[in-house]
Amino acid sequence: MKPIIVEPQFEKVAADVLIIGVPEHPENVDGWERLVENFSSRLPEWIKTGDVKTDFKKIVRLPALDGKGYARVFFIGLGAKQDLNEDRIRESFAAIGKELIASKATSAAVWLEPFTNDSLGHTDIAFLAGEGIGLGSYQFESYKTGSNEKDVRIETVQILTEQDSDEMKAAFEVGIIHAKAVNEARTLVNMPPNILTARKLAAHAHQLAETYGFEIHVLGKQEMEELGMGAILAVNQGSVEEPQLIVLKYTATEEWKEVIGLVGKGITYDTGGYSLKPKDGMVGMKGDMGGAAAVLGAMQIIGELRPARNVIAVIASTDNMISGEAFKPDDVITSLSGKTIEVLNTDAEGRLVLADAVTYAKQAGANYLIDVATLTGGVIVALGHDKTGALTNDETFFEEFLEASAETGEFVWRLPLTEKDKKRIRKSDMADLNNSPGRDGHMIFGGGFVGEFAENTPWIHLDIAGTSDAASAHELGPKGGTGVMVRTLATLVQRMEAEEE
Ligand code: BES
Ligand code: ZN
Ligand code: ZN
Repeated sequence: MKPIIVEPQFEKVAADVLIIGVPEHPENVDGWERLVENFSSRLPEWIKTGDVKTDFKKIVRLPALDGKGYARVFFIGLGAKQDLNEDRIRESFAAIGKELIASKATSAAVWLEPFTNDSLGHTDIAFLAGEGIGLGSYQFESYKTGSNEKDVRIETVQILTEQDSDEMKAAFEVGIIHAKAVNEARTLVNMPPNILTARKLAAHAHQLAETYGFEIHVLGKQEMEELGMGAILAVNQGSVEEPQLIVLKYTATEEWKEVIGLVGKGITYDTGGYSLKPKDGMVGMKGDMGGAAAVLGAMQIIGELRPARNVIAVIASTDNMISGEAFKPDDVITSLSGKTIEVLNTDAEGRLVLADAVTYAKQAGANYLIDVATLTGGVIVALGHDKTGALTNDETFFEEFLEASAETGEFVWRLPLTEKDKKRIRKSDMADLNNSPGRDGHMIFGGGFVGEFAENTPWIHLDIAGTSDAASAHELGPKGGTGVMVRTLATLVQRMEAEEE
């Protein structure tokens, strides 16, 4: 999707679709009369009669007459101008993106002015247009024979504005970079587990490394054994697939310091192991690598935008299977940190693989840690499907994170982690920790377990079990993988760059 910046002269537009935002009182929009003149003098009447609507996100598609450079116009209602904020604009453009694909448009022209208000300028809108259209137009290429022939791609977007064209172009392109990375994460989540194995995930990371010049190291089973990564190895024991610990390093400064560690759960399939999931609870567990997808997506944005902040990504990947060799409840395992773990539930495997990944990240110099994981059903009970659950051991770090999430519109809510909770995680006759203290409030036990390995390093845990995979279409995309946290993680890294300078 290439941006072309042109002046808002409607007679010069050449695109399949012209996109016009219609706020309440559109006649107050600078340049509105020029649009009316070019499209139809009846337009004000149609707004009055409700044929063209000002209600927020209501799209009306109208054909254009012969002689126009555009074949159709999408009018999208924006409601009251003063109510417009980043989230609403992003959603509007996502709705437009979806509509463009549905109407098989390959080019569009967006007039920025109607979307602006006192707090949102042209540059903000250009960025949100790129991001929103990119997110909303996502389509998963399925494996149905012949299905990809139907695929529509938006090739160019003309941006109609009088503002500095380089700045507008750059803002729109950053939006597209965000959307592309999220869409990549969505695709990883949507891919079937027989195709997306741990090795495939590693191959994807290799591609990123090649494209962006990241340092990459992928540890297989043998190296894990040499290092003593007993936790991820235990989860992998029942599998015929090789486990992979995928490590990407983005070096921004001469010295490897002030490193942000992004740690992702990459369970390519979670059967539950011997603590087997019921058959209905198992379907969909191909998405148990949503945390890994989020981290890889964030690295893609980081690779594109190159913030001045060192980042290490560590992804722990394997499937959780059953065989004569699989680990089982009552096993005691020794993690990379040296801490021993009594396994009470093989379905609480995410915290095990994350334990070794977090320790690895710390040993590799991470001064800040964020782990992202589809960790517990408990977070879905607590917060539903539109809020990511969080835990932290550091107020300041979490404040900064919340600001990033407010910027991206990805809602995060923190749950408490008390000394009493930690005691229950540490309660075992056999080992230092147990991996399943109970079902009451178990989102906290899951994340809290990972926190035992972060120790005193500033740490944030993100449980995306409810937000990583959507059962139906939502504001920013279709059903399936959402790519949640890709944008927030990348935005946080960028914010932390600005601060240190
Ligand atoms: N991968 C699941 C969590 C999950 C549930 C993700 C629903 C996405 C949708 C995780 O490994 C798991 O099975 N967690 C258990 C933990 C329990 C055994 C303590 C759970 O939440 O039931
Ligand atoms: Zn599980
Ligand atoms: Zn799992």
